[in-house]
Amino acid sequence: MRLRLIAYGLLPCLALAAFFMTGCAKLKEGKPIVPVREYEKLLLGKLTADYVGDVNCLKGCHTHDKLALDFKASTMGDQLKESSSGMKIVDCESCHGPASEMMKEIKGLDVNKKDDYEKIVRSHKENLLDYSTLPAGALSLICLKCHTSNATFNIHNWNGSIHATNEVSCSNCHPIHGSSDLIVDPRAVQKLCLDCHVDIRVQFSLPNHHPVREEKIFCTDCHEPHGNSNYKNLREMTVKETCARCHPEKAGPFLFEHADNTENCAMCHSPHGSVNNSLLKLPETFLCKQCHHPHSITSDAIGGKSMSFTRCTDCHSMIHGSDNPGLSGDVDAGGRFTR
Ligand code: HEC
Ligand code: HEC
Ligand code: HEC
Ligand code: HEC
Ligand code: HEC
Ligand code: HEC
Ligand code: HEC
Ligand code: HEC
Ligand code: HEC
Repeated sequence: MRLRLIAYGLLPCLALAAFFMTGCAKLKEGKPIVPVREYEKLLLGKLTADYVGDVNCLKGCHTHDKLALDFKASTMGDQLKESSSGMKIVDCESCHGPASEMMKEIKGLDVNKKDDYEKIVRSHKENLLDYSTLPAGALSLICLKCHTSNATFNIHNWNGSIHATNEVSCSNCHPIHGSSDLIVDPRAVQKLCLDCHVDIRVQFSLPNHHPVREEKIFCTDCHEPHGNSNYKNLREMTVKETCARCHPEKAGPFLFEHADNTENCAMCHSPHGSVNNSLLKLPETFLCKQCHHPHSITSDAIGGKSMSFTRCTDCHSMIHGSDNPGLSGDVDAGGRFTR
């Protein structure tokens, strides 16, 4: 009885398994709508061109040697044909386009002869993808055919990002042939970003600024360069959460909150730089007087005279919030941020 049960149970299972296994094999064979390799052909507009392999690009072309050595030593170059990984995913033509037409044209030419050299250069321009004329979106697609958001997680929101929609391409920030290290060096980031964002450069030149120029923090600590759905592409959902990554003690929660002001630190602080101390948008007391009537203090110690003050935070030193009630000790009166 039990045997028969097992047999009846097992058979459909096996059949199902077999079905799914062949099904999966079929799925694996599935082809993208436009085969990846055809993409460069389409861009190039020469459907007759074909791929000849990177040996052809490198053979006899000494000027490419440093470039090729660097590339081979990189993580991407490690996917070349003869690489240790044996995965042959990337070669010169994956980004520069199929080279057969060009190889035909330049056959027999001598790179050391001036006339020939010019012909070779022209033939490159005419037969390979010309990075100097392609629009930014097309350039990025060359990278994106491999760097899908699954493979490269941080480019999940690239297509809708402010950079993608403003003619910035991957190669603006990632010089493929810059060196063998493709990882962006954080110390190179500020120059990279500030070369385009000239207005932000000015902000970081103000006397009080976040130490980006001093290389203690980086633009990318606060911004995601590939774009995301957060305000100004901040790393976190809100300004407050972004600041709290490094200044958690200012973010609370506190027993006595400064109303909901500290929900947005940028209410009082300029995140990049300011002419005022502590990156304040306005100097004290003007900062506070935007919302408060200034008060004066009358005390016996000063002979019953009242005084006005220039720095509110001399007394209200816990300006971001406090867990202690005001000096009166009256909890119902709320916090006064004096202690
Ligand atoms: C991942 C894409 C990619 C791969 C792979 C690639 N290149 Fe490039 N290459 C580029 C881009 C993008 C440029 C345009 C200049 C730049 O942004 O660095 C370029 C520019 C060049 C230039 C012109 C450099 C200059 O100073 O004007 C040469 C030559 C070159 N590549 C050769 C090669 C060779 C040879 C290979 C194979 C070893 C190769 N490339 C592989 C993306 C690639
Ligand atoms: C033919 C496929 C292919 C193309 C096209 C391609 N890449 Fe890559 N790229 C790879 C592979 C594979 C790696 C190595 C594995 C990895 O690190 O994800 C890599 C690695 C990288 C890395 C280094 C990642 C790391 O962590 O070391 C950067 C940066 C990069 N690619 C940028 C680009 C840019 C920019 C372009 C377009 C100009 C581009 N790639 C085009 C396949 C490709
Ligand atoms: C505005 C400049 C900028 C643009 C445009 C850009 N990147 Fe990046 N990318 C960076 C920076 C900076 C890093 C360093 C890591 C970080 O902080 O996110 C990085 C990191 C990466 C990495 C991981 C390797 C590393 O350096 O940590 C890959 C892969 C990558 N980018 C691919 C791409 C691709 C593909 C595109 C185009 C779709 C692209 N990037 C567009 C600036 C940029
Ligand atoms: C090739 C030029 C270029 C480079 C390099 C570049 N950007 Fe941009 N960035 C732009 C353009 C163009 C815009 C569109 C809006 C504008 O003009 O400010 C933009 C927009 C932004 C925005 C959004 C502004 C908003 O109003 O929402 C942020 C944040 C930003 N970039 C940060 C960076 C960071 C961080 C880097 C360095 C990793 C960087 N950018 C590198 C050109 C560039
Ligand atoms: C300490 C975090 C932090 C750092 C570091 C930082 N930013 Fe910002 N950035 C912000 C915040 C927060 C905003 C939004 C400010 C606002 O709108 O009140 C912003 C806004 C921007 C904007 C949009 C400006 C506008 O007028 O809309 C750009 C562009 C930008 N940052 C670029 C950069 C660049 C480039 C660097 C590096 C040189 C950098 N940021 C470093 C936090 C930072
Ligand atoms: C990646 C870490 C980091 C992030 C994120 C960050 N800061 Fe800072 N912040 C620093 C460092 C480092 C200093 C300099 C401290 C020093 O020099 O002693 C600093 C200094 C300051 C100062 C004091 C400046 C002075 O001269 O006294 C203020 C105010 C400040 N940050 C506010 C903010 C605000 C607001 C945000 C969010 C927009 C923010 N920070 C996000 C790292 C960070
Ligand atoms: C209501 C205005 C206001 C808001 C909102 C505000 N701050 Fe401040 N912050 C100040 C003032 C005023 C000072 C200067 C205090 C002083 O000089 O004693 C200061 C100083 C700072 C300092 C430097 C002084 C120190 O003790 O290290 C940091 C860091 C800081 N704030 C971070 C933040 C962060 C993070 C937020 C958001 C969670 C925030 N601030 C929101 C008013 C504000
Ligand atoms: C954007 C407006 C705004 C700014 C700027 C601001 N505050 Fe406030 N503050 C408020 C609000 C709203 C409350 C809550 C008032 C209430 O609960 O009655 C508050 C509460 C207070 C309280 C406690 C009052 C009470 O009744 O509990 C003190 C003290 C205070 N703020 C001091 C300051 C100082 C000092 C500054 C400047 C460094 C400042 N505030 C900047 C809006 C602001
Ligand atoms: C010499 C110290 C001192 C200075 C400077 C000071 N305050 Fe006060 N403030 C106090 C004291 C003490 C209280 C009563 C709080 C308590 O009960 O603990 C108070 C209370 C307040 C309150 C609560 C409402 C009220 O009237 O009771 C506000 C709002 C306030 N201060 C804002 C400011 C602003 C804005 C400035 C700068 C223009 C400022 N204070 C400068 C000591 C000071």
